[in-house]
Order: sequence, then structure tokens, then C-alpha cells
Amino acid sequence: MFDSPLVSLCLFYIIISSALNTNASVKRYPPDRRKLLESENFSISRKNTVVLKVFYESLCPASADFFSGQLQPTVEALGTRVKVIMNPYGNAETKHYRGVYKFSCQHGPEECYGNKLHACAIGIIRNNTRAVFYNSCLLKYSRKGEDSSIDFTTALNWCGYKHGVPIRQVWKCAHSRRGANLLQRFGRETHKLNIKYVPYVMLGDSSAMQDQATGNLIAAICQMLHYPPPVCGLNTDIRSSKTYP
Ligand SMILES: *[C@@H]1O[C@H](CO)[C@@H](O)[C@H](O)[C@H]1NC(C)=O
Ligand SMILES: *[C@@H]1O[C@H](CO)[C@@H](O)[C@H](O)[C@H]1NC(C)=O
Ligand SMILES: *[C@@H]1O[C@H](CO)[C@@H](O)[C@H](O)[C@H]1NC(C)=O
Repeated sequence: MFDSPLVSLCLFYIIISSALNTNASVKRYPPDRRKLLESENFSISRKNTVVLKVFYESLCPASADFFSGQLQPTVEALGTRVKVIMNPYGNAETKHYRGVYKFSCQHGPEECYGNKLHACAIGIIRNNTRAVFYNSCLLKYSRKGEDSSIDFTTALNWCGYKHGVPIRQVWKCAHSRRGANLLQRFGRETHKLNIKYVPYVMLGDSSAMQDQATGNLIAAICQMLHYPPPVCGLNTDIRSSKTYP
């Protein structure tokens, strides 16, 4: 589709329509940032821990693929050397209406509910690693049920059981004002960045490594680490050596 390693993305609809109208924007999109990467400035800023911000949305298949294929294996391999900050808002909009926040989401109202579940989990779990595993699980199991609506209940029950996260607490939060407030805060952060597609990744406050980060996350992070752990010395294209169901 695109001339880029980022084959599947959830684009905001404005971008989709403009991309359909012009050949040029299809070719250039997402921007090729490799040149920036090759500048010295990236190798200089090595760190002991890399902060990774991930912007995504709950019903975007590309987000689910990124979590199961890249993010979760990277966190498993690098442990505390990577600090993940998730932001489950994506291409949504927020309205303030009679004292409460209302959202509209790219994949419909169900996605807004899913985003709240993710936001609540982040607030409740308070352990980045576990929250990544849990939300990765939610992304994987939030599927269409028999009546073609999304079956969040099965995902909530299974992922809560699997990762020891209180099911009722997450559910209650997502149905309450707390869930809306949490999601609104993620939205404020997302809107500041003017993000046009998800998953969108920032490494150490920079979005310059977008293609690397979504194409081979662990290698991108290894490049940025002081004293990279032994796992970085192996062929780090984790996708080619293993498959993650
Ligand atoms: C797309 O590219 C073709 C050939 O390169 C050109 O003829 C056409 O006008 C372009 N379309 C748009 C919308 O730019
Ligand atoms: C690297 O950083 C320096 C100082 O911040 C800046 O002046 C320079 O333009 C940067 N180089 C590149 C290639 O971005
Ligand atoms: C966070 O969760 C991970 C994975 O469950 C666990 O290994 C780690 O010990 C936890 N960290 C803290 C500080 O509780």
C-alpha cells in the first residue's frame, strides 16, 4: 500500500481522503525520517533507560498487531530498560457537554468504551510492564462476538484472570466519570502532538524514529541504550526469529 515499512496504520479520516486524492501524498506518507536518524545526534543521546510513548486506539488492528508483535516482546526482552507510557486515545475527539466528557472515536462508540478500559487499566495497574501485558491482551481478545458487536466482556474476564487485574474495578471505572476523565487527559496529550495515524511511537521524546520503532522496535531501542543488554547483540529482528500468536 505505502512505500514504507509501515504497512498498516489506522489513519485519521482526513488523511485517508487526502491520500486518495493525490498520488504524491501516498508516496510521501508517512514521512521518511531515515535521514534524520542517520544524523549523529541520535547515537549521541544514549541512555540507561529509554522512555517509549505509544499512542494507539483500542479497535485499530494495526495497534493490536504492534502490541502483540513488537511492544510486548520488546518489554519481555528488555524489562526495566524500557519505560512504556501508553496513550489509548488515538484518532478520537473530545467534547465537553454539561459537565461531562463525551468522545467520538474512529471505530465508533465501542472503541471509545475500549479506550476507557485501557485508560482505566493504566490508572489502576500502576505497573507499566503489567499494564502493557494486560492492554495487549485486551487488544487481542476484543473481537466481534456473535451479534457482531465487540465482545469486551470475554476480553475483560480472560485478561483480568490471566494478569491478576481486578475485573470489576476496571469495568466500573470505564463506566464512570473517572474513566472519562482519564481518557480526556490522554486526549489532551494526543491533541498536542497533532497525531494523524496510529500506532504512533515516540522514543525519548522524539518521533524521528517512527519507521524503525514500528518496524523493529527492539532494535530501535537497543540503538539508544548505554551498555545494551546481551539480547541486543542477537539478531534483533524479533519478528523473523519467532512468531507471537
Ligand atoms: C496520479 O498520477 C498520474 C500519473 O503519474 C497522473 O496522471 C494523475 O494526474 C495523478 N493524480 C492526481 C490526483 O494527482
Ligand atoms: C545536532 O544537534 C545540534 C545541537 O543541538 C544541532 O545544531 C544540529 O543541527 C543537529 N544536527 C542534525 C543533523 O540534526
Ligand atoms: C511489574 O509487573 C511485572 C510483570 O508482572 C513484574 O515482573 C514486576 O515485578 C512488577 N514490578 C513491580 C515494581 O511491582
